[in-house]
Amino acid sequence: MGRTPSSARILNNVLPRMVGESLLSRLLVTKFYFPVQILCFLLLSTATGRREASLGLATGSLQQEQQAWARPIDNGTIDLEWCTQAETPAGKVGCCPPRSTTSVVDFVHNTQLPSRLRQPVHLLSSDYIAKYIRAYELMKALPPDDPRNFDQQANVHCAYCDGAFLYANSTERLHIHRNWFFFPWHRWFLYFHERILASLIEDDTFALPFWNWDNQSASDPLPNVIPQMYLTNPVLFDDFRNPDHFPPRLADLNFVPGDGAPISDSKQREENNALMYKQLVNARTTRLFYGKEYHPGDSKPDGLGTIESAPHNTVHKWTGSSGKPHFEDMGVFYSAARDPIFYPHHANLDRLWTVWKTLPRNRKGPFRPRRDYKDPDWLNATFLFYDEKRRLVRVRVRDALKTEQLGYRYQDIHNAWVTARPSTVAGANSKPLVSASPDSPPTAAADVIEEFGEAVSGKIQKLESVFSTKVKRPLKNKLTRLNKALGPLFRMFSYVPLNNLPTLFSGGGGDKSDDDDDDDEVEEILVIQGVELDYNKATKFDVYINYPNANENTPVNVVEFAGTFVNVPNSAGKGHIMETEVRLGISDTLEQLGLEDADYIVVTLVPRGSSGPVTFKGFKIKYET
Ligand code: C2O
Repeated sequence: MGRTPSSARILNNVLPRMVGESLLSRLLVTKFYFPVQILCFLLLSTATGRREASLGLATGSLQQEQQAWARPIDNGTIDLEWCTQAETPAGKVGCCPPRSTTSVVDFVHNTQLPSRLRQPVHLLSSDYIAKYIRAYELMKALPPDDPRNFDQQANVHCAYCDGAFLYANSTERLHIHRNWFFFPWHRWFLYFHERILASLIEDDTFALPFWNWDNQSASDPLPNVIPQMYLTNPVLFDDFRNPDHFPPRLADLNFVPGDGAPISDSKQREENNALMYKQLVNARTTRLFYGKEYHPGDSKPDGLGTIESAPHNTVHKWTGSSGKPHFEDMGVFYSAARDPIFYPHHANLDRLWTVWKTLPRNRKGPFRPRRDYKDPDWLNATFLFYDEKRRLVRVRVRDALKTEQLGYRYQDIHNAWVTARPSTVAGANSKPLVSASPDSPPTAAADVIEEFGEAVSGKIQKLESVFSTKVKRPLKNKLTRLNKALGPLFRMFSYVPLNNLPTLFSGGGGDKSDDDDDDDEVEEILVIQGVELDYNKATKFDVYINYPNANENTPVNVVEFAGTFVNVPNSAGKGHIMETEVRLGISDTLEQLGLEDADYIVVTLVPRGSSGPVTFKGFKIKYET
């Protein structure tokens, strides 16, 4: 642009968009002189709070929503009807745990236990493997109605994952996938599973190993194949797996059933590293990583975090049997934990959670930590698990946030993907798709791609083949410029750092917190709105920025790949239709493509494999810190 826009002009441009283009906001902007604009704006935003501001001015549903947030989801109180049949793609399945005869106890961290080290499966000693197998033999030999029995353990996952539990005082089914409970719930599940195994072999140093599929090293033994002991030992073997994926076949972290021929090992390794980078390093914000907030009564609770889509869901499907109707065991949640490999798979995801927290939230400047949700409805949500003494224990999310408090840690492993930022631009030889600068007209290539618009337009689009659209960037870098131009002025009126503005109005997961400061970076989020799919169907699509030539065979280790959405079949929803938003962090990708100043970007969706039907309603750019 070459000139610094005046503060007032920026505010006039940005403010109306932020407060939803309402009449009042327009009045605020146009009718009052400048300091009053700021004061009114701050009063509006601080008085109503972040969530309300994101909804625009108060609406009728606001009060109901507020009531709904006032309490966390409670699965730690036993109702009469505490557990019902699970609804799964294979029909109704009874997987409720046995009723407890004693009362529920509250979890307390056990500081008496020795600290445990979770090691990678491929590096376990033969002594450790023997101990591990012994523990599973004992677990499988327990009476069938003992809640510590292996089948009962698998049922815990089935019950929580396919909606068998109603949360207390409610007829609503609880879901711990596709929302902010995904990471903490699975941590708790593994915690008790590990404690039960340890107590069976009377060894409190026992820890679950992790399947290090994100490690693309070609060393022997290979980390990224099904580890030998799960194939050779009858206690750890499971019939329902895909034999085409036995070693030496490398796990495909972006797998989808019905995909084309396998690629070479070296390409697979590069693609796996790139997928990890895009899904995990680029998931900088709380919401991108953990998934959507979930409060009692939420009618659309689904909003996967990026890692849950892939590599979590993809490795589930890669492992499950292609000969079974729903890719049992691992490829569908009701049966996934019947396969002993479920536990090292999830131990690795739990480890990746710890790795995620060591990565910087910001792309530039001094290190800023990635943040947990601070919402009490998350922190105080409760679940029930049987412990090693067969007691029913009530746990809270807040007690699962540090592995050290739970008494274990992960062996340090080099995570090569942390620096595997793709640098190849797939469309390097084609013309730029949008003007690099707002002052120059778009190129012809961009003009032939239509803009699909935001969901408010009500249009519904089927995703049957590759789909491309132009997406308008409403605020672009104006926020950054606004920051720079107005920061000192704003702070004269308020202690709210201006950097929180995008959060105030995005409805995103980033909460204002102690470690917020003026250097907070805003992440640009691509939101695919009103995505509808069948819960029962395996669904996947990949997302590319400014590469409309992308197709099923386009690799993911290119700059343009922005991320992926993956559904594992489950019958959670009413009418079997999931309505969700797909969100991806794209700041890094835009910077690499030189699009930071572009008014439009081109977004391309590539349905992959034999996906179930998907429709969507629009595209939008949001900002989160
Ligand atoms: Cu609850 Cu990997 O699934």
